[in-house]
Amino acid sequence: MKITIKINPTKNEKDIFSKNIIIIHASKSPLSNLFLNKDERGYVENEFKKAHEIVSLNQLSRFVHVVNIKDEKDRNKAAEYIRILGDKLQALVKDETSVYVLFTIKDKEKALLLTEGLALANYTFTKHKTDPKPNKLENIYLSNHDNETAVAELQNNVDAVYFTRDLINEPFSHLNARDLAEEALRSGKENGIKVTVFNKKKIESLKMGGLLAVNKGSMDEPTFTIMEWNPKNASNKKPIVLVGKGIVYDTGGLSLKPTPNSMDLMKIDMGGAGTVIGAMQAIASNKVNKHVIALIPATDNRPSGNAYAPGDVITMHDGTTVEVLNTDAEGRMVLADALSFAKKYKPELVIDLATLTGAAVAAIGHYGFVSMHEGAREQHAELKKVGDEVHERLAEFPFWEDYGELIKSDIADIKNLGGPHAGAITAGKFLAHFADYPFIHIDLPAVYSKAKYGYRGKGATGMGVRLLYQFIKNRA
Ligand code: BES
Ligand code: ZN
Ligand code: ZN
Repeated sequence: MKITIKINPTKNEKDIFSKNIIIIHASKSPLSNLFLNKDERGYVENEFKKAHEIVSLNQLSRFVHVVNIKDEKDRNKAAEYIRILGDKLQALVKDETSVYVLFTIKDKEKALLLTEGLALANYTFTKHKTDPKPNKLENIYLSNHDNETAVAELQNNVDAVYFTRDLINEPFSHLNARDLAEEALRSGKENGIKVTVFNKKKIESLKMGGLLAVNKGSMDEPTFTIMEWNPKNASNKKPIVLVGKGIVYDTGGLSLKPTPNSMDLMKIDMGGAGTVIGAMQAIASNKVNKHVIALIPATDNRPSGNAYAPGDVITMHDGTTVEVLNTDAEGRMVLADALSFAKKYKPELVIDLATLTGAAVAAIGHYGFVSMHEGAREQHAELKKVGDEVHERLAEFPFWEDYGELIKSDIADIKNLGGPHAGAITAGKFLAHFADYPFIHIDLPAVYSKAKYGYRGKGATGMGVRLLYQFIKNRA
């Protein structure tokens, strides 16, 4: 269910007398007497003194939630604290259809952050329930203090995060490689993005050996989707390329995964693709003036009589030969072909996003992303800074040349398996073999959380969309 964020259509705040309201109260300023009588103001101020952040009043015809936003010097911490307050408020207002967020002009940034948290927290994935009970909350109205563009941007970004979450939460039974490509086509059509989908024949003619190898065990054909956003006023001469791992289901293939907490989660293995598709939607719907291309190699990975097997040698799109030692290391096989395909765009930067290794999850849990880079020190520093701002944080791993030794093969150029340690890094090294441009690799433990993770919810978090959007928007 979509949530709508709008500027309060009634100019006069008195007109919203019978509505449920949230009042943003930044510390120190006196409480307005417009919505609270003297006794109520006294009560609220007293509660604030006891360090309560949200004070709720039932005024019979409506609820009023007054939010006390404390001062916090660290800008990023302050922003995240307000988004989290938005999540707490969502729990209080989710059963109402509309809520009005009232604030004074000096608090407008805070109001947007609070609304972001509130809107993102309101997401549910109920489409497969015969009696779906999504949250009732559908409309958030903001005081008439903000410019339309900032509110529209927030709406577009919340929509994009919802879209990414929907894609990732959708099981393989309802989203195969073709379905994923159709979703990219649909979003592209709605937002003016040029989308091209290569079918198996075209993928064969391009000799994408990695994608074809992984697809051998599948009942479905692979797809390779290209999304291109190239506005007339693009400020970059060479495009930024985003690559997303589109393994719509990962059984491990012949190197079969166990079921609990492993294969049973693997509908999320197109998390990189879902994030990239959502980010493209955010970029295009906000008409960001950057030339951006997304590449999405997609297939499921499963065993069958014809499946690729440990010991096989595969010739990749760029001619590199790969010894397959574990068919469960399939993400790097499909990404490698997309990364060598990306060379033809002479990109200024390529960022790949992938649920690539259990090692990344083991290292940092679902709280952030693991990143590595080659020839992109400045761009990575900028991405990390944006990550701290939007609270989709990067943990940088070492990317020393030594790790490259671990993927050398006796019988082919490289192998798809590293040593017993540093699994996230050797996977990154494998990818970097196919890149000859500034390159950032992002492994995505944070795309999915089994337990509710604040305003990111339970299940697919949609993390990465706001990161990519803000990073690309900020670039010169
Ligand atoms: N899709 C998995 C990685 C993964 C596991 C992502 C758990 C999110 C949660 C990937 O294809 C995989 O299976 N990687 C193997 C690589 C190994 C065989 C070198 C892994 O991490 O175990
Ligand atoms: Zn795998
Ligand atoms: Zn995988």
